[in-house]
Amino acid sequence: MDRTNRIVILSDPQGSEEPAFSTFLSNSTSAEVETPIKTDPLRLGILLSGRGSNFLAIARNIREGRLPGVEIAVVISNVADAPGLAAARDMGLDTALFISKGRPRTEHDADVLACLQAHRVGLVCLAGYMRLLSPGFIAAFPNRILNIHPSLLPAFPGLEAQTQAFDYGVRIAGCTVHFVDEHLDHGVIVVQRAIPVLETDDSHSLSERILAEEHIAYSEAIARVAGRKYEIVGRRYVMRASE
Ligand code: GRF
Repeated sequence: MDRTNRIVILSDPQGSEEPAFSTFLSNSTSAEVETPIKTDPLRLGILLSGRGSNFLAIARNIREGRLPGVEIAVVISNVADAPGLAAARDMGLDTALFISKGRPRTEHDADVLACLQAHRVGLVCLAGYMRLLSPGFIAAFPNRILNIHPSLLPAFPGLEAQTQAFDYGVRIAGCTVHFVDEHLDHGVIVVQRAIPVLETDDSHSLSERILAEEHIAYSEAIARVAGRKYEIVGRRYVMRASE
C-alpha cells in the first residue's frame, strides 16, 4: 500500500502560540497533499544557579537519543561561577549569564525572558534555579515552565526539602516535576518518583538517592510534555481521552 507522510497541524492545548512542536507526523493512505516531512523540535531553555546535575542528566538523555524531538536552545544562569553554566559552555551549547544580585527582579527577568524568546524556547526548565520568577515572566510562558523539587509535593515546599522530610520522619520521600504557577512549588504535577527512607539513611544519603530519582524524573516530564499526549484537567495532568 502506498503510504504518504502527512503533516497534521494541531492547536496548542495549553494556549501557547509557540510553534515549537505544533506539528506531528502521521501516515495516510488517502490522496491528500504530500508535504515534506517536518518535525519541529521542542526547544528547551534551561535556567540554573548551581552545579547543574539535572541539566546534565537532561543533556545526556538528549544526546543518547532518549528524548527524541527535544533540543537545548540555551542555558541561562544568574550566577557567574555556576558549575552548570561552565559545563554547558564546555558542551558548546548557547549560554547566557544575567547576574541577578542587586538588580530589581522585574528588570532581571525581562532580560532572561528576552533571551529565551530570542532562542525560540518552547519549554523553560528550572534546574536548580534559585530565584523566584516575577508574575510577568510566568505569564509569558503559561504552563510552559517546569520546575523540579526534591520532595513529594505538596509536602515540604521551600528550601532544604529533603532535610525537612527526613526530620519529619516520613517513610517515603521523593521528587516532583511540576509546572510553575504564581505560587511557590505549587503548579500542576507532571511526574513524581518515590523512594523509601531507609533505616540507614541520614539527610545527606537521602538527598543523594532523591537526586538520582530527579535525574530520571525530569526527562520523563519533558518527554511527557513533548509527546503532547497529556493535558491539564483541573490540577491533574492526564492522558488525553483520544489517546
Ligand atoms: C535539586 O535538588 C533540585 O530538586 C532543586 O535544586 C537542586 C538542583 O540540583 N530544585 P542540580 O543543580 O540540578 O544538581
